[in-house]
Amino acid sequence: MAPSLLTLATLALWAHHAYAASASDWQKRTIYQVMTDRFALPPSQDSQGAPCDTGAQLPCGGTWSGIENHLDYIQGMGFDAIWISPIVAQLQVPLPPPADGTAYHGYWPENIYALNDAFGTDSDLRSLISAVHSRGMFIMLDVVVNHLATYNVTANADPANPWSGISLTGYSLDEDSEYHPFCPITNYGNQTMVEQCWLGSAAVPLADVNTENQTTVDTYYSWIGDVVSNYTFDGLRIDTLKHIRKDFWPGFAQASGVFTIGEVLDSDAQYVGGYTQVIDAVLDYPGWGMVLQAFQTTGGSMSMLAQSIQNTSTYFKNGGFSVGSFLENHDQPRFPSFTNDTGLIKNAIAWVFVNDGIPIVYEGQEQEYTGGAVPYDREAIWLSGYETNKPLYKHITTLNMARQAAKNGSSSFLTTHMEVISTSTHSIAMAKYPMLSVLTNVGQSASGQVSVAVGSLGNGYSANSELVEVISCSSVKVDGSGNLAFTTQSGAPAVFLPSSMASKVCTNLAASGSGSGAKGAFSTSIYMMSAAVSSVIALVLLVSA
Ligand SMILES: *[C@@H]1O[C@H](CO)[C@@H](O)[C@H](O)[C@H]1NC(C)=O
Ligand SMILES: *[C@@H]1O[C@H](CO)[C@@H](O)[C@H](O)[C@H]1NC(C)=O
Ligand SMILES: *[C@@H]1O[C@H](CO)[C@@H](O)[C@H](O)[C@H]1NC(C)=O
Ligand SMILES: *[C@@H]1O[C@H](CO)[C@@H](O)[C@H](O)[C@H]1NC(C)=O
Ligand SMILES: *[C@@H]1O[C@H](CO)[C@@H](O)[C@H](O)[C@H]1NC(C)=O
Ligand SMILES: *[C@@H]1O[C@H](CO)[C@@H](O)[C@H](O)[C@H]1NC(C)=O
Ligand SMILES: *[C@@H]1O[C@H](CO)[C@@H](O)[C@H](O)[C@H]1NC(C)=O
Repeated sequence: MAPSLLTLATLALWAHHAYAASASDWQKRTIYQVMTDRFALPPSQDSQGAPCDTGAQLPCGGTWSGIENHLDYIQGMGFDAIWISPIVAQLQVPLPPPADGTAYHGYWPENIYALNDAFGTDSDLRSLISAVHSRGMFIMLDVVVNHLATYNVTANADPANPWSGISLTGYSLDEDSEYHPFCPITNYGNQTMVEQCWLGSAAVPLADVNTENQTTVDTYYSWIGDVVSNYTFDGLRIDTLKHIRKDFWPGFAQASGVFTIGEVLDSDAQYVGGYTQVIDAVLDYPGWGMVLQAFQTTGGSMSMLAQSIQNTSTYFKNGGFSVGSFLENHDQPRFPSFTNDTGLIKNAIAWVFVNDGIPIVYEGQEQEYTGGAVPYDREAIWLSGYETNKPLYKHITTLNMARQAAKNGSSSFLTTHMEVISTSTHSIAMAKYPMLSVLTNVGQSASGQVSVAVGSLGNGYSANSELVEVISCSSVKVDGSGNLAFTTQSGAPAVFLPSSMASKVCTNLAASGSGSGAKGAFSTSIYMMSAAVSSVIALVLLVSA
């Protein structure tokens, strides 16, 4: 008997989804964000370490083969997923480039059906993906749907240039009807304008794809299904999500067959949260802003951070499970451009790993890169020599291992929502059993006494339990009445696990609170007991048992 059409369709669907990773598959993982042009040179040039002037906004030479050659560096920190820059063919601008530079970053697509040959060949890309998969890691593709980039000759008034105006020759969409009519976005309060007018500059207008035209919609749905299955990507990071009408996205996400996380650049949790109704997750921009204010100075507000955690649970579809949590990315000034206080930096990084979101670390954080706003936050990683003996490389490794250990230790870690236990002027204590974290903004020249009532948190935290603080690798015991008392050193964050779960994170345990043998500690920071702050942190559990 011939199989029915329905059976064939079911089989096709099954085949398409055979490798597809879902939101819950991604929830188990942590992501390292690679900016392809800046991560690694091809192996043949690797030893030469070409210079990379971020200010020039020119390609610096990173490729897919370069990434493949340095996967050990990424996996060595404990990441089991990478996110790479968009892969499609890009707008070429005449040199010297206009003020907003060249398409080295990959966010100026021109033809979605061709690869960006600056990053390598089709077989280089396939080789990278299979190398990632053979390590049991996932790979996330960054995609731009909102626009194709154009070059406006009149805006640049280059008399030697043979063309004038904007040409669509060579574009994957080459008819005017496939774009919204030109209008610049001048009012972000007008959502129709945000969706239907154009981003970009006068020199490089980003031609806004007409996603109101069903033919164009179908083009993108079928394109994304093809790209994902063609190359076996495991997930998508979607650029400029808020610039396309919401009801475009469910069909797009479904056509991709994989996990989707989108960029909604806005600080308003209610606005951003709305997008978690149409795709799996969003990058946690509202939370990021609050983390920034909490840790960029010793005067940041912990109660604002707690309020933002509450907002996430109120306005996001699955609360904190609907976000990718980050401290840095290629679009924002790096955290050390706000402060060089190693205590504050380590706390802010720890935030990313202790909340419910999928932790995402942007390349270069582990090297303590300090670049400010775009384009200075896009430093080449090869200039660091891929040094793995750096304090933040170790700090991030410890945090990845702590998450692993929490996951191994309790099957409900990934489905347990983080709860704020308490806040004080300089601290916030959060529980996501079996992980308990106390983040502080006292800064590197201070220490603080932490006292948290933990007896009610469950198994492993009851009176007289042995815990390990995994950042300093110190043992600490819950007292007879269920209180956890601990002294943080040099403004470091504290992340506790029941000692039975921490053996792989800390192999050398120091005595409680001494700080010696601190695994991820900055060797240069000096411990000073400051009278002004020594008694600031006194956390008491206010929740009834
Ligand atoms: C191209 O540049 C000219 C001159 O600056 C400007 O008037 C026009 O609006 C630009 N076109 C687009 C689509 O941005
Ligand atoms: C919002 O923007 C659209 C598109 O530019 C425009 O047609 C509409 O008049 C604007 N609405 C308001 C209230 O300004
Ligand atoms: C939609 O785009 C197609 C080309 O892809 C074009 O032929 C058609 O006329 C457009 N429809 C409208 C309503 O603009
Ligand atoms: C799928 O891969 C082939 C090369 O193997 C390429 O020619 C084709 O353009 C790809 N399709 C998409 C949609 O990326
Ligand atoms: C929480 O959401 C409310 C309502 O949108 C908003 O007024 C408040 O500023 C938000 N708080 C924080 C810390 O983001
Ligand atoms: C941190 O140090 C770097 C390099 O020394 C410097 O460029 C940056 O401005 C410093 N940041 C602050 C906030 O001082
Ligand atoms: C978690 O479990 C895996 C699989 O059993 C093991 O390989 C890994 O070392 C464990 N990690 C930690 C930090 O406990």
